[in-house]
Amino acid sequence: MKQLIALFITSLLLTGCRNKEYNPDTDLDYCVAQATKTISLAQDYNRMPNSVDAGKQDWRFTLPGSWTCGFWPGILWYIYEYSKDPQWLAKADSFTYPIIPAATGPARSHDVGFMAYCSIGNGYRLTGNPVYKQALIQAADSVARLFNPQVGTFLSWPNMVKKMDWPHNTIIDNMMNMELLFWASKNGGDQRLYDIAYKHAETTMNNHFRSDYSAYHVIVYNDSTGERIKGVTHQGYADETMWARGQAWAIYGFTMSYRETKDSRFLDVAQQTTDIFLKRLPVDMIPYWDFDAPGIPNEPRDASAAAITASALLELSVLTTDQAKMKVYRQAAEKILLTLSSDSYHSGNQNTSFLLHSVGHKPNNSEVDASIIYADYYYIEALLRLKKIQEGKSIYENL
Ligand code: GLY
Repeated sequence: MKQLIALFITSLLLTGCRNKEYNPDTDLDYCVAQATKTISLAQDYNRMPNSVDAGKQDWRFTLPGSWTCGFWPGILWYIYEYSKDPQWLAKADSFTYPIIPAATGPARSHDVGFMAYCSIGNGYRLTGNPVYKQALIQAADSVARLFNPQVGTFLSWPNMVKKMDWPHNTIIDNMMNMELLFWASKNGGDQRLYDIAYKHAETTMNNHFRSDYSAYHVIVYNDSTGERIKGVTHQGYADETMWARGQAWAIYGFTMSYRETKDSRFLDVAQQTTDIFLKRLPVDMIPYWDFDAPGIPNEPRDASAAAITASALLELSVLTTDQAKMKVYRQAAEKILLTLSSDSYHSGNQNTSFLLHSVGHKPNNSEVDASIIYADYYYIEALLRLKKIQEGKSIYENL
């Protein structure tokens, strides 16, 4: 009953906001206030806030080199961008520098892109620091060694080759890391970086989707012939289900790839993957961790998938020339942000993160219904994108 009443109130709120412009400033100020509290708990620049377990207050920290290490510095860069306060610049620099050795050393997985681009990438965008530029090009060169020309994609998880007998495996998340390669090729790096990122997106477009454009999490390929062997899951409920964050990575990754290449096939994939995501969302616009999880509506939600998608949809809304679609994407993004910004999802006094209710790895029972740093990162990115759109500015300012 309680849930029904909550749903009814949310849908009233969502309907109510349709004609009103959602104002992201209050929520950006909230992010600054929460991050101010986190800064006082995170004094060691080599330990990045990573997650807070459900019902707890203490952060779990992570080290430079983990896939999530770049999100906290990235948040600090976004807060600096919003506040223009040099104290945030100093903090952002302090947490970004320790990531450079990990991002520029030999790539252990595709995650170098997340690690480097969210932290060092935002740092370069906002400061033009040549040390950051050099580090980004080195990071791109390093991760490029994981590209397999026979297959036409990056090997996402070298450690799964033997462990799972997945000779060449590519996960949908890997699309996100193409942004680093596209950027590097335009900023003094090799043209090959662009070519292999393009090829990766093309091969992924051909092999990673079911006929309804829901994404597989992992595609396993023969590493010498390039043959597609099978589609499986690692973090979703089952091989044939739609894992929410995987679908969000697809929407974001193909939107970004269209921006970088202007290949209209990538725009089409971004739109088709969006259509099914929006069609299957619950009324409050926050997905369950897997759209096909068997216990829905009693399954955990994933705020991170919602935040990633909100940010991607704002970009899609400025890239599409179709006025009707532009409106759909913008309104959907605003509705997602409205729910994420409600008391149900804001961490408030429960802990110092921005958002509650994300899921990291449900099959491993890890970070279930937790606050997770990448949900916060894409939430603040989306709020800033919306603010720029409302102010008539380019979302690519300083890019
Ligand atoms: N890239 C890992 C995840 O989305 O959990």
